[in-house]
Amino acid sequence: MTVTDVPVVARNREDLARARAELSGTVGVVMTMGALHEGHAALLQAAREQADHVIATIFVNPLQFGPHEDYDRYPRTFDADLALCTEHRVDVVFAPSAEVMYPTGEPMVRVNPGPLGEVLEGASRPGFFHGVLTVVLKLLNLTRPDVAFFGEKDYQQLTLVRRMVHDLDLPTRIVGIPTVREADGLALSSRNSYLTPAERDSALALSRALFAGVAAAEAGQGPQQVLAAAQAVLDAATGVRTDYLVLTDPDLGPAPTSGPARLLVAAWVGTTRLIDNIALRLE
Ligand code: PAJ
Repeated sequence: MTVTDVPVVARNREDLARARAELSGTVGVVMTMGALHEGHAALLQAAREQADHVIATIFVNPLQFGPHEDYDRYPRTFDADLALCTEHRVDVVFAPSAEVMYPTGEPMVRVNPGPLGEVLEGASRPGFFHGVLTVVLKLLNLTRPDVAFFGEKDYQQLTLVRRMVHDLDLPTRIVGIPTVREADGLALSSRNSYLTPAERDSALALSRALFAGVAAAEAGQGPQQVLAAAQAVLDAATGVRTDYLVLTDPDLGPAPTSGPARLLVAAWVGTTRLIDNIALRLE
């Protein structure tokens, strides 16, 4: 591999603007908080396939962490992240500091996610989606992509980003990418690195609960029974404290009685909060 295969690393607006100006054709962006894994890699691969150039952003966004959350201990693995970006032929890595992103401190103006930002993740993490949508909008404005890739792993985030793009007439196409899982079902997450081996075992209850819900739906069971099947797996698990388990329509509205639906779960395993979700079809 030659030196030129390494992405341009931009640390501030000026470097990014210069690197962005060099890119002709379509640009795809993949926004991340780093600690990159195969889930992020799936987004980078899709971007490589669907756009002429790829920009990856790596920024642990303080605005989306609550005062008692894991901002300080969130894993920061820049060298490994850059290696993965190199492997996936990313053109530009934008990795600003908090001071670069928020030069005058916390921004006075933020994106209001509306009512969908107050439920599920938003109910457990007040202000979370204001922080997410604000940084996503800033990063869209800074990178000016034709297309941006987000994982279904964070389904409410994906839904709200789509909604923001629609409601605010942003000129970027949003592509959702299916959740990448370990062979045993666990959804890949940067936060999995917090889990002890015993906790990792307990964490399997989340995906198992979702798969039980899918199996119930495939067996022709209704919404109540689908939820009960998933709940039973969570109840039987040790070391898992459920935050929510809900069945919704694909837009996170009330569960339908038939047709496409989404089953979403959030749970604490020790001091780590994990989320997962899956698509299913009610007969
Ligand atoms: P982060 O958790 O780093 O995730 C970055 C992107 O990778 C998100 O779109 C997320 O949904 C996707 N992703 C994570 N795990 C995945 C998996 N197992 N399979 C598929 N995709 C996966 O989400 C964020 O960062 C931040 O909120 C961000 C959008 C960058 C704003 O700060």
